[in-house]
Amino acid sequence: MTEAILLVGGKGTRLRPLTVNTPKPMVPAAGVPFLTHQLARARAAGVEHIVLATSYLAEVFEPHFGDGSDLGLSIEYVTEEEPLGTGGAIRNVASRLHSGPDEPVLIFNGDILTGLDIRALVDTHASSGADVSLHLTRVEDPRAFGLVPTDETGRVTAFLEKPQTPEEIVTDQINAGAYVFRRSVIDRIPAGRPVSVERETFPDLLSSGAHLQGMVDSTYWLDLGTPQAFVRGSADLVLGRAPSPAVPGRCGDRLVLPSARVAPDAKLTGGTVVGADAVVGEGARIAGSTILAGAVVEPGAVITDSLVGAGARIGARTVLTGAVIGDGAQVGPDNELRDGIRIWCDTTLPANAVRFSSDQ
Ligand code: GDD
Ligand code: MG
Repeated sequence: MTEAILLVGGKGTRLRPLTVNTPKPMVPAAGVPFLTHQLARARAAGVEHIVLATSYLAEVFEPHFGDGSDLGLSIEYVTEEEPLGTGGAIRNVASRLHSGPDEPVLIFNGDILTGLDIRALVDTHASSGADVSLHLTRVEDPRAFGLVPTDETGRVTAFLEKPQTPEEIVTDQINAGAYVFRRSVIDRIPAGRPVSVERETFPDLLSSGAHLQGMVDSTYWLDLGTPQAFVRGSADLVLGRAPSPAVPGRCGDRLVLPSARVAPDAKLTGGTVVGADAVVGEGARIAGSTILAGAVVEPGAVITDSLVGAGARIGARTVLTGAVIGDGAQVGPDNELRDGIRIWCDTTLPANAVRFSSDQ
């Protein structure tokens, strides 16, 4: 049986202060809590048992996913009293694992949307005989990630988390946040204190001569760390660019949940999602955006690459481009909000309050 640990704790668990109240793994992406996509992809790859390692707002996961049987999984939940870091969180759930000492255990960062061939990673791990195998991807700017140079056989030669100096940027290959650990390696992580798998465990393993194997896979990959990335990821799920068995309905230009009401002449494109009970008025144009449950988009609003929080209201003719509107916020008619603006939850913005373009 294959089993996995899913890391969903730490500091960045909420989209706050990015203005949406829900903890990040539970914000709907393509109509279902984001975590559902990771769980469903793991199941499709043959994983049967998943331990969710969390440090924060654990109470929102269990009521939703229960014992996992709806997804064909057996899910357990472990909550840290204080965040233990990525390595500490992995060690903290060791007692819940069923695997024997030499068997593989999958580990996933909980904020990644990817088309990774999970089985291929497990197969690479088996055939290379590595202690740990890592999914690597290439990015243009690796500074926000863990850099993972490898030799010609794919063996990892160093692990440099969040490089600070130009000299440290030795590769564009980064840790993509999916690993296979030999079970006994997990048991050797120190227990009962915070440990960073990236800053402590991987460097220690390398200096003790352990075999870390990298598998570069250039499939779809996105870290959903910012709301803009989240909106992009949700749209890519709807468009079918990011593969997930959990997208409710066929992939296409838009996803409208059954209880939403969309005016017949409203135009929804680019992977736009309209959540449960949301309302989109006449002539509205929405592209590449996520409209969460119960939000209202009034007639003539033009929304592009934006996130509209649950229960928020976007006034008539208001233009949103690259904006994040918090849950319950009220944006009056005839506003123009652009690039990176974030309206806090439950804020009210009057009509005609913000414009970028000329007054003509
Ligand atoms: N349970 C638990 N406890 N989970 C945690 C903790 C903790 O104390 N700290 C972080 N996590 C979880 C996060 O919820 C996330 O799913 C994952 O571990 C990674 O943590 P982030 O805080 O998102 O790290 P990052 O994005 O800066 O960097 C990590 O991901 C990059 C890829 O996106 C590192 O693994 C990098 O090396 C990697 O390149
Ligand atoms: Mg992250």
